[in-house]
Formats: sequence, C-alpha cells, structure tokens
Amino acid sequence: MIEKRKLGKNGLSVGRLGYGAMVLEGYYGASDDEQAVGTIRRALDVGMNMIDTADAYGSGHNETLVGRAIAGRRQQAFVATKFGIIFDQSETGTDLPTGWGFSLKINGKAPYVRKALSASLKRLGVDVIDLWYAHYADPATPIEETVEAMAEGVTAGKVRYLGLSNVSAEQVRRAHKVHPIAAVQFEYSLWRREAEADLLPTLRELGIALVGWSPLGSGFLTGTVTSLSKDDFRQNNPRYAGGNLALNRDRFMPFMAVAKELGVTPAQLALAWMLHQGQDIFPIPGTRRAERVEENAKAADIRLTSEMLRRINELAQPGLAEGATLV
Ligand SMILES: NC(=O)c1ccc[n+]([C@@H]2O[C@H](COP(=O)([O-])OP(=O)(O)OC[C@H]3O[C@@H](n4cnc5c(N)ncnc54)[C@H](OP(=O)(O)O)[C@@H]3O)[C@@H](O)[C@H]2O)c1
Repeated sequence: MIEKRKLGKNGLSVGRLGYGAMVLEGYYGASDDEQAVGTIRRALDVGMNMIDTADAYGSGHNETLVGRAIAGRRQQAFVATKFGIIFDQSETGTDLPTGWGFSLKINGKAPYVRKALSASLKRLGVDVIDLWYAHYADPATPIEETVEAMAEGVTAGKVRYLGLSNVSAEQVRRAHKVHPIAAVQFEYSLWRREAEADLLPTLRELGIALVGWSPLGSGFLTGTVTSLSKDDFRQNNPRYAGGNLALNRDRFMPFMAVAKELGVTPAQLALAWMLHQGQDIFPIPGTRRAERVEENAKAADIRLTSEMLRRINELAQPGLAEGATLV
C-alpha cells in the first residue's frame, strides 16, 4: 500500500502517488468504459487514492466515470476535480492562448463557479468534493473573485480543500490571501522542470502541495511512445510534433539507460525521481491499464541514492526537452 502524506500544511493524508483519469477519455488512444472503471478501482486498491479528474475531460464524461468507479468506495477515494475550461459551447468565457497553438475558453466568474460546482457534484455522485481546483485562472476575472466564489463551496460543506492549476507564484499568493489553498497542480516531470525555479519555492513557503500533472511526460518518459496516430491529442504537443519526438527520444536515451541499469522501468524511475524531490510533491500518472497502475505504484518502493539522484539530475537538466509547453 502506498504511503500517505498530508496534502499541504493542513490537508488530509493522501497517497503519495495519485491517479490521473484524463487518459480514460481517449486523448492518447481509445479507451473502454468498463476497463476504465476497473483501472480506477485498481488505483484505489493499491492506495493511489487521489483520483484526479476535471469537468472538461470528455465534456463531463470523465467525472461520471470516476463517480461510477468510486460508488460504494467513497471513504477510500480522495476525489479531485477542476472547473473553468468551457466545454459546453452555450457558456461564455475568455480566450486563453496556449503554447500548443490553440486557445482555451476560461470562465472564473462567480455565477459560473457556483454552477460548475453543482454540475460536478452531480456527475461525480458525491456530496462533497475533496479537492476542487480552478483549472486555469480566467484572464478576465481577478483570481480573488474566483477563489471567493470557490470558498462558498467550502462554507456550504460541498468542498473540503481548494486548489489552483496552471497558475503563477504571484497568482498563488493572491489567491491564498482570500482562502487557504491546499494544492497547486502544474506540469512537473523530468521533461518539464520550470516549477522548480519559482512556483515550488513559493508553495513551500506557504505550505501548499504540488500535484504534478503529466508526470510521465504524457507517456514520453515511459520510453514506449515511438509514433502517434493521426487522432492522438499529443499531435498538438510541440514536444511530440514534427522531428521533436525523435530528437527528444535521443536526448532522453541516457535516462532510459539508467532505468535499465537499475532494473526498473523508465516509468517507475520517472515517478521515483519525482517522489524524491520532496514529500510535498504528488505525481498523478494516468494509464488505461490496471497492470500499469500496479507497475507505477511500485515506483513508491524505489529508493534512489543521492549519487543516483545527482546523475539523473545531470542527465535530464531543466530545458533538455525540445518544444513549447502548454502553459
Ligand atoms: N491541470 C492540467 O491542466 C492537466 C493537464 C494534463 C493532465 N492533467 C492531469 O494529469 C494526469 C496525468 O497526465 P497525462 O495522462 O497527460 O500524462 P502521464 O500520466 O504523464 O502519461 C500518461 C500516458 O502514459 C502511459 N503510461 C502510463 N503508465 C505507463 C507505463 N507504466 N508504461 C508505459 N506507458 C505508461 C499511458 O498509456 P496507457 O494508457 O496506454 O497505459 C498514457 O498514454 C491526467 O490524467 C490529468 O488528471 C492535468
């Protein structure tokens, strides 16, 4: 069973490795609902109890899937979801350009925040959401307004902890003054390390956990992605596009070799490295397959020496990966 740690200074204890459910919507290849429910339940079995979803994943379908999987096991699951990306085109929002060449539409205004909470609770089939994130800050709404409206959910007993995602250190500071923030979700892995510079030190100062999204580089760090089908969402990701996938595979070859030398899989090594960066860091790897949940869970048992950590840090220095990032 995976060890638990407090999520943020005053948070509940959750498994140090969580489970990211987004991949169950077919973004990186077809997914089957029955298998998906079984995979989420396996995550609960092994103690990856922070189940991460968002209202926008599969336009609400992902929350419904998570709701099905945790039915009858609510006490075991720590349910984390997000709101703010407009997926129902009858809703309004503000365009937010991303580094992947498309824009997202974001709404963080109080009336939308309230509406989003009711809809997520219903789809998840729960009375309370354990951790509720603003998926992105709305460029047209002060973050204070968004967080104040989110805090109403806490007061009403419908939300336990508040989180933010894809925000700057400055936005975290402003939000935290309105209501305590338990966790910030940001892309963090051996191929995306900018969080170390500014965000992570701020979170540590404020006692906020870092939940690392795409901890396997959306699959890249597992060493198993050699090409992508035409409809694979990662075609949008400049790190996979054009010649960058082959280039990045070359650059990360030494890291893959270290995993082989240690007798672990690259996925396990990538997760173990993250867990060694601090007790306040919670990776949320996604997979459609129950057996890979088990493989990934074993990363929590790997102990890396300081010499090995130094080697990995040198092999995969910040900036090694080629291609722009989402935020
Ligand atoms: N806040 C945000 O803006 C944001 C953005 C993106 C993601 N997220 C969250 O982060 C979670 C994880 O991110 P992610 O799914 O993008 O990327 P990830 O966890 O870095 O990688 C997932 C990919 O890795 C593969 N994989 C997983 N374990 C493997 C193993 N042991 N061996 C080989 N392949 C393996 C999966 O393929 P199979 O399915 O074939 O196993 C899948 O394609 C998401 O589910 C979501 O909850 C948040």
